[in-house]
Amino acid sequence: MYLWIKAFHIMAVVTWFAGLFYLPRLFVYHAMSEDQISRDRFKIMERKLYRGIMTPSMVVAVGLGIWMLILMPQWLQQGWLHAKLALVALLVIYHFLCGAQLRRFASDSNTRSHVFYRWFNEAPVLVLVGAILLVVLKPF
Ligand code: HEM
Repeated sequence: MYLWIKAFHIMAVVTWFAGLFYLPRLFVYHAMSEDQISRDRFKIMERKLYRGIMTPSMVVAVGLGIWMLILMPQWLQQGWLHAKLALVALLVIYHFLCGAQLRRFASDSNTRSHVFYRWFNEAPVLVLVGAILLVVLKPF
């Protein structure tokens, strides 16, 4: 049972990250676009990615993670898990920051440049590297 939950946890994490990497990339192109037809197309792509893929994946990934901890409560005593949960908290904040940017684009009121979104796009990479090393190596 536990391994089934873990397998689906990893699938949800993969699909969540697909969106966490691609949505800010869409923001880069959206911030560079100069005609209304392109902007309207980006708005639809962004909304479907965020609401259809990213938010459901986040809910499933976090829900299954919590379920594993209910089955393995001894991990709640361990440092690697505390560090991982801190990274997950940052990732959830990042997710909602993406949602806030999405709403700005949806009302054509984005003021940030494509360069900003290129840097913004790098943040989840750091969380991914840290979280994977923590869960696989369990260094402390
Ligand atoms: C509240 C959110 C989360 C909780 C409570 C949680 C908890 C857990 C737990 C208890 C395990 C089992 C560890 C093991 O069997 O050794 C696990 C595995 C895993 N988690 Fe999460 N997790 C969460 C979110 C995430 C996120 C955001 C990522 C990706 C960055 C992630 C990536 C993984 C991976 C790759 C594994 C498999 C590790 C392995 O089999 O060695 N998790 N998670």
